[in-house]
Formats: sequence, C-alpha cells, structure tokens
Amino acid sequence: MAISDLHVGYPENREIVERIRPESGSDWLVVAGDVSERVADVQWALGMLRERFASVVWVPGNHELWTHRRDPVRLRGQELYLHLVELCRGLGVLTPEDPYPVWQGTGGPVVIAPLFVLYDYTFRPDGATTKAEGLELAYASGVVCTDELWLHPDPFPTREAWCQARLASTERRLAELPPGVPAVLVNHFPLVREPTRVLRYPQFAQWCGTTGTADWPVRFNAVAVIYGHLHIPRTTWHDGIRHEEVSLGYPREWQRRQWGHSVPRQILPTMCDGGMVW
Ligand SMILES: [Fe+2]
Ligand SMILES: [Fe+2]
Repeated sequence: MAISDLHVGYPENREIVERIRPESGSDWLVVAGDVSERVADVQWALGMLRERFASVVWVPGNHELWTHRRDPVRLRGQELYLHLVELCRGLGVLTPEDPYPVWQGTGGPVVIAPLFVLYDYTFRPDGATTKAEGLELAYASGVVCTDELWLHPDPFPTREAWCQARLASTERRLAELPPGVPAVLVNHFPLVREPTRVLRYPQFAQWCGTTGTADWPVRFNAVAVIYGHLHIPRTTWHDGIRHEEVSLGYPREWQRRQWGHSVPRQILPTMCDGGMVW
C-alpha cells in the first residue's frame, strides 16, 4: 500500500492517519513524503503506522526538509535529513539510506526502492531556458514554492547541487540491482515530467523534480512508480509503466474530491482496474 502528503499538522489529516489500518497482517506501507514539517509530527505518524504495518518505508518530502519556525529542531539540509533517517531507524522504518527491501508477498519478488532525489529546476516553464529565467517567471507571477525560504541545502551550496549529488549516488545504487528483477521506485517528486503538465500553475513544476530521472523507470525495470507532492492523486502510464500519485493532500483539497479519502492506495498486487482504490 502507499500514501503520501499526510500533512499531519492539520487536525483533519491527523484523524485520517489515525484511522489507517492494513487490510492484512502482512501489508507493507510506503509513505512517500510530506508527513509534516515538524520532526515530532513525523515521529508520531511513522511510529503509529509502524506499529500497524508489517513494514513501513519512508522517503522525505520537501516539507520534512523545512527548517520550520515552529519546530524546535533547528537542523538544516543534510543534517536534518540524516536526523530523520536516524529517527526512522529508531522506529524500525526503512529509508533511502537502508538496503532496498524485497517484497516477497503476492506480486513479488519486487525490490522496493525508496529514493531521495530532490529537484534541480530543470522542469522549466515555457519560455525559460535557464534556472534564473524560470525563477524570474515564477516570481513575476507570484507563484513561488516556500522551499525557497525554508528548505536549506547545507552543506551543499544550492538545492540543485544537493539534487545532483543525490542523483549520482542513487543511480549508482540502482545500477547495482540484479538485472531483470522488477522494482517499485518510490520518490516524493515525480520521476518524469509529464504528471506536472496538469498543474494549475505550470511555473510550479520547477520545484517538482528533475529531468535526470526521466529514463529511470525503464532502465531500472519498474513495475510501478510511487510519488506524491503534486496533490493530484491519480494513476498515469508513461513508457508502459504505471505511475501512482498517492497523496492525501490538504483538507481543502481532499474535502473537494467527490470520491472522498479512502487511503492508502494498493500498489501490489496490481489491481485489474489499474490500481485505483480511491
Ligand atoms: Fe505535499
Ligand atoms: Fe511536497
């Protein structure tokens, strides 16, 4: 099963997370980022889910990586990320820093690969050929991601430099997987550009991924890609591979959805209707 963008700072979302239960004792849960911007909230949610599911796999979203003014944890950038990784280890939750687990249940064996690849401003809006031009368009329109204020890249000079480092190390690990073994790739941000085409504000896409992962689903034998961040839950297909946006999102978003908020989404075994359980 998979879910993302729990945003448990909202009481309505906390109530939903409190109600999440596995369907069987052997279910695994993938949590694809944006649990909260406060470390204590991340601990609360992941700890509770870990008690319920046989295994929990987490990747960071941009909100976990904020050095938020209301969080007593003042760490920044990579130090904050590694702090969260240690917190997960204490809870028994798997992270991108652990060996990739292998799902042996129905639909397996499948490698579950939690990835932490940030964004590098290469999903540029039309008319922009550089990061500076893309940002200029965004600032001119007033649509600027809050990451610009609170997601610090320390010790890297920039977020795109951090992304480049993560791309290189992650690609090395994926290339070491035994050839032919199917994989589920999990990342907070979409691995391909196409899902961002439906954003209400196209200029927001520059905070939504990197062109550096475009061929990963095919190259690394993905049977499914799990992501969130866009708050547009749906299933799409790219190069014949299923991409699942599994976000819960903000209350004002899920309250509008006519199909309610039955979460999380089943990933394996693949459901005959394409995997939708919303
Ligand atoms: Fe989110
Ligand atoms: Fe996000």
